[in-house]
Amino acid sequence: MDLQLAGKTAVVTGGSKGIGLALVRTLLAEGMRVVTGSRSITAELKETEAVPVAVDLSTVSGPVRLIDSAVMELGGIDLLVNNVGVGDTDDFSKGVRLNLLELPDDAWEDTFNLHFYSALRASRAALPHLIERRGTIINVSSVGARAAGAGPANYNVAKSALSSLTKVIAEQFGAQGVRAITVSPGPVGTGVWTDPDGFVGRLAKEQDVPHKAFVEQLVSASGVTTGRIAAPEEVARLIAFLASPVNITGNEYLIDGGMIKHV
Ligand SMILES: NC(=O)c1ccc[n+]([C@@H]2O[C@H](COP(=O)([O-])OP(=O)(O)OC[C@H]3O[C@@H](n4cnc5c(N)ncnc54)[C@H](OP(=O)(O)O)[C@@H]3O)[C@@H](O)[C@H]2O)c1
Repeated sequence: MDLQLAGKTAVVTGGSKGIGLALVRTLLAEGMRVVTGSRSITAELKETEAVPVAVDLSTVSGPVRLIDSAVMELGGIDLLVNNVGVGDTDDFSKGVRLNLLELPDDAWEDTFNLHFYSALRASRAALPHLIERRGTIINVSSVGARAAGAGPANYNVAKSALSSLTKVIAEQFGAQGVRAITVSPGPVGTGVWTDPDGFVGRLAKEQDVPHKAFVEQLVSASGVTTGRIAAPEEVARLIAFLASPVNITGNEYLIDGGMIKHV
């Protein structure tokens, strides 16, 4: 299937590893030119044809700097994927362990900066360029956005805000040809799950359960119907399809192995 992406340009936030790296590779394979921003530039990212920008996207100026660099490099933007997330602080495990009375402000602020404000700031900076080309924004949210009461409250609430931002962009800029779409993964086999020092690995250590057994328990307890964690490439393929010229906007696409049961 020709996704009609060849020759177009993309900015991916958080493309040094995980879903972002898989997406960078997928979009390049479709013939897109890609700029990506992350704090580190990994060996795997260097092996691609993407243009990496070293930037902290949780800051006020970081997302603007990324978009400015992308416009300089690419001449315009057809696609922005706000994928950055997770990071390496202990805000996630604090969000799991602590209730509202205990979870400190900085764990909320840092989580919102990385998962919500980075996307808001990148989208604001990119919108004039996306309007020029009738482009697309795809926000990578999470099933957690639909289950805000469970799991890390700060993360889930920030992702709910991100999913809402998609609707705002779709409504406010749809008439100018800009589409906005949310992709909400369930468990995806990135370092978040597989790295012993990642979020799940650290939770396993805290609970004194072997990492592999803990992952299996968590996937089972999450109600993943397929019983398996998705590969980052599966999420990348969904995003590439949604970036192609299809008459879809404002909606959310789950890629969660059947985890969300309600209509
Ligand atoms: N994996 C899952 O199970 C899952 C499930 C639902 C939703 N998601 C969402 O999918 C997205 C990608 O997750 P992932 O699993 O691929 O995570 P990951 O493997 O940890 O990758 C995160 C990416 O974000 C970058 N990053 C983190 N903090 C940054 C910062 N302050 N400034 C710039 N870049 C930063 C990382 O690069 P550096 O470390 O080099 O900065 C990396 O490129 C996130 O939004 C996550 O919430 C993931």
